[in-house]
Amino acid sequence: MPGLVSCLGDLIVTGIIILFSDHVKSEIWTNEVSDVQFGGLGSRVTLTCGGSHGGSLVEWRFNGSSVPPWQTHEGSLTLLNTTHSMEGNYSCHDERGTLLQSIKLRLGHLPHFVSVSCHMPNHMKIYCSWVQTKTTDLPTMYRTSYSVKGKFEPCEQEHIGMNECTITNPPFWSSSKILVNITEINPLGSNSTIIQIDTHELLKPDPPEDVQVLYVEGQPTQLLVKWNWPSSWAAEIMHAFPLTFLLRYRPIGSNYWSMLETENTSLKIMDALVGHLHQIQIRAQDALINHSQWSEWSHVVDARPWIGQKPWEEPTESVICCFPSFDTPFPVRTTDKSPDSSLHPNGSLGLLVLLGLFAAVMVAVLLTIIVLLWVRQRKQDNVKKQELTSMVKMKSIPI
Ligand SMILES: *[C@@H]1O[C@H](CO)[C@@H](O)[C@H](O)[C@H]1NC(C)=O
Ligand SMILES: *[C@@H]1O[C@H](CO)[C@@H](O)[C@H](O)[C@H]1NC(C)=O
Ligand SMILES: *[C@@H]1O[C@H](CO)[C@@H](O)[C@H](O)[C@H]1NC(C)=O
Ligand SMILES: *[C@@H]1O[C@H](CO)[C@@H](O)[C@H](O)[C@H]1NC(C)=O
Ligand SMILES: *[C@@H]1O[C@H](CO)[C@@H](O)[C@H](O)[C@H]1NC(C)=O
Ligand SMILES: *[C@@H]1O[C@H](CO)[C@@H](O)[C@H](O)[C@H]1NC(C)=O
Ligand SMILES: *[C@@H]1O[C@H](CO)[C@@H](O)[C@H](O)[C@H]1NC(C)=O
Repeated sequence: MPGLVSCLGDLIVTGIIILFSDHVKSEIWTNEVSDVQFGGLGSRVTLTCGGSHGGSLVEWRFNGSSVPPWQTHEGSLTLLNTTHSMEGNYSCHDERGTLLQSIKLRLGHLPHFVSVSCHMPNHMKIYCSWVQTKTTDLPTMYRTSYSVKGKFEPCEQEHIGMNECTITNPPFWSSSKILVNITEINPLGSNSTIIQIDTHELLKPDPPEDVQVLYVEGQPTQLLVKWNWPSSWAAEIMHAFPLTFLLRYRPIGSNYWSMLETENTSLKIMDALVGHLHQIQIRAQDALINHSQWSEWSHVVDARPWIGQKPWEEPTESVICCFPSFDTPFPVRTTDKSPDSSLHPNGSLGLLVLLGLFAAVMVAVLLTIIVLLWVRQRKQDNVKKQELTSMVKMKSIPI
């Protein structure tokens, strides 16, 4: 419940700060609407009883308990050397105990300087963020702006409470020096932190993306490296603001990197160490601005050059090849994850041969059966003929 109350208080106070931020100079700032009063920690704070009439006796209560009368003077309550324990509900009452006013007291500090840092991943945007150097325990907001040669523009805060602002399309060629003003405001006062930035020195692209390293078939000392521009380097300005790339590579275990520079997004390493796994990284820099910064290195990619019949990993799209296994006469590739079209002729050939063999065996079996049947028939016929002839012979014998 107190959390909700203070939260509502914060909202209302913030609204009022926006309206009256030009005169937030007073050390104590009373908000009659929400009856929240803010004071500086360790300072002297005076609470006045709004409903009291001059000279009449007033009783003050703190969180419901009476406050000793020596702290009050002509209806006002004075707190010296305030501490957090003095925060809470104060109320003033007349002789009959009727509530005249209640005040919620919140204590904190004046704003201090903030610590600002800015980064510029392309020519169109500067992102600045900041952190408090001292917590104030009070609701706080920020005014953010930048100026070039005395001309002020807002540094846009897209998400209130994130402590970030964005400068869009900063002047780049007319002047590289920009003043950024981050002003912290709370109910006790404000404090402006001004930093100067130089866009030429601040410009630092993000690292190149999607780095791919491919071996080149038949070339045991070559590696083909491909990458993309950092996505934060907006596509429409790519041609106006070219990037230059630095590629470094070394066999794993070596302390020395070899370097190659290019403005292209692909490159062939020609002197890789045969059979060794290599580490490859790339970084980017604006190709035209002399003092701009290099990006961070991209993530390390490991790759080994081509080493003969057995590839060290799945063949990649650049290598048009395949390694069909002729170890087994009839490759049965039904478990292959990728239905590689080059394997189909082999598979169906095997099937055909199998079918042919099967048919041959069937024919042989059939032929054997037919021959056996025919032989048996012949035998039976012979027997019959012999019987007949013997009968004829018997008939012809005269009795
Ligand atoms: C302070 O006052 C608010 C309302 O004004 C009340 O909700 C809260 O309970 C009070 N807290 C104390 C400790 O008296
Ligand atoms: C104020 O209070 C702090 C700690 O409570 C103490 O160190 C300091 O001496 C006090 N100052 C005065 C002027 O009473
Ligand atoms: C007075 O009440 C506030 C909540 O409104 C609480 O945070 C504070 O600790 C209380 N102080 C004392 C001395 O009771
Ligand atoms: C701003 O904060 C610094 C400490 O960070 C302080 O020395 C300076 O006096 C403050 N300025 C104002 C105007 O309060
Ligand atoms: C910084 O911004 C604040 C708030 O917008 C303004 O009051 C102050 O004059 C600015 N300071 C400078 C040096 O521009
Ligand atoms: C950049 O790539 C293009 C084709 O992609 C090629 O013609 C050109 O020679 C390459 N430039 C360099 C410096 O490697
Ligand atoms: C960069 O330096 C070269 C000479 O070192 C100079 O000719 C060129 O104008 C400079 N470019 C910029 C943008 O300052």
